[in-house]
Amino acid sequence: MTKDTMEKREELYAGKAKSVYLTDEPDHLILHYRNDTSAFDGEKIEQLERKGEVNNKFSAFIMQKLEAAGVPTHHEGVISAEESLVKKLDMFPIECVVRNIAAGSLCKRLGVEEGVNLNPPTFEFFLKNDQLHDPMINESHIRSFGWADGEAVEKMKALTFKVNDTLTQLFADAGLLLVDYKLEFGRYKGEILLGDEFTPDGCRLWDAETRKKLDKDRFRQGLGSVVEAYEEVARRLGVDLS
Ligand code: ADP
Ligand code: TMP
Ligand code: ASP
Repeated sequence: MTKDTMEKREELYAGKAKSVYLTDEPDHLILHYRNDTSAFDGEKIEQLERKGEVNNKFSAFIMQKLEAAGVPTHHEGVISAEESLVKKLDMFPIECVVRNIAAGSLCKRLGVEEGVNLNPPTFEFFLKNDQLHDPMINESHIRSFGWADGEAVEKMKALTFKVNDTLTQLFADAGLLLVDYKLEFGRYKGEILLGDEFTPDGCRLWDAETRKKLDKDRFRQGLGSVVEAYEEVARRLGVDLS
């Protein structure tokens, strides 16, 4: 079975920005990137034209770069403008965040000014739970509640930092600062793979010269030109949006 012959079956789950479909093959899913854009755990939701297509192609490009750098991912291939085929993972209910520069919830939580360099970069875990507003958790919580075992925790951390090494350089080469990002992992036949997406919806990217925001903070903060900013990043990286 190849990505071109895989058949789409019933919807398994509709998230805030993507819909997940079963396929005729139990080990694979189709991710449909919708135009829905959500912030503040679903409190603010709008449709932004072209965003589904831009994010689908953007994430495919990044996943391929990460695979080439030795980070195993769920990505199999783009199958239509807004859809990709992925390996079906047993997801950990955890978000892994690395921050190179202070922004967002870190600034609120610790009273730090936005833009302060973090050296070494900071790592944080969050519980994936919209009702609880994705609370920050630590490794002890993860093990005590059985969300992942110690080995999986170490692997997710190591892979999240490996992603940082690869992507800070990739974005720097495009004149961009990778401020922070969120990753989700899951298990596939015993192996831990990077799942979900890597797009400007789930990271912060600033122009290296002007520090102009080119990510979902444009939506969160009502700055406008959201998808245009994502397209600008994609263009600078060389993502094929045609
Ligand atoms: P959310 O659930 O946060 O609203 P999305 O709208 O992006 O997020 O929905 C996509 C869902 O699919 C997420 O819950 C994510 O954890 C899950 N997911 C992503 N990749 C995979 C995969 N390869 N296998 C199984 N589930 C996945
Ligand atoms: P934060 O500053 O809101 O904690 O977010 C840190 C980074 O992780 C930022 O790039 C946005 C991303 N993120 C998500 O994409 N989804 C989430 O649910 C959370 C908590 C963070
Ligand atoms: N990802 C979360 C949401 O979609 C949080 C955020 O991006 O602000 O609501």
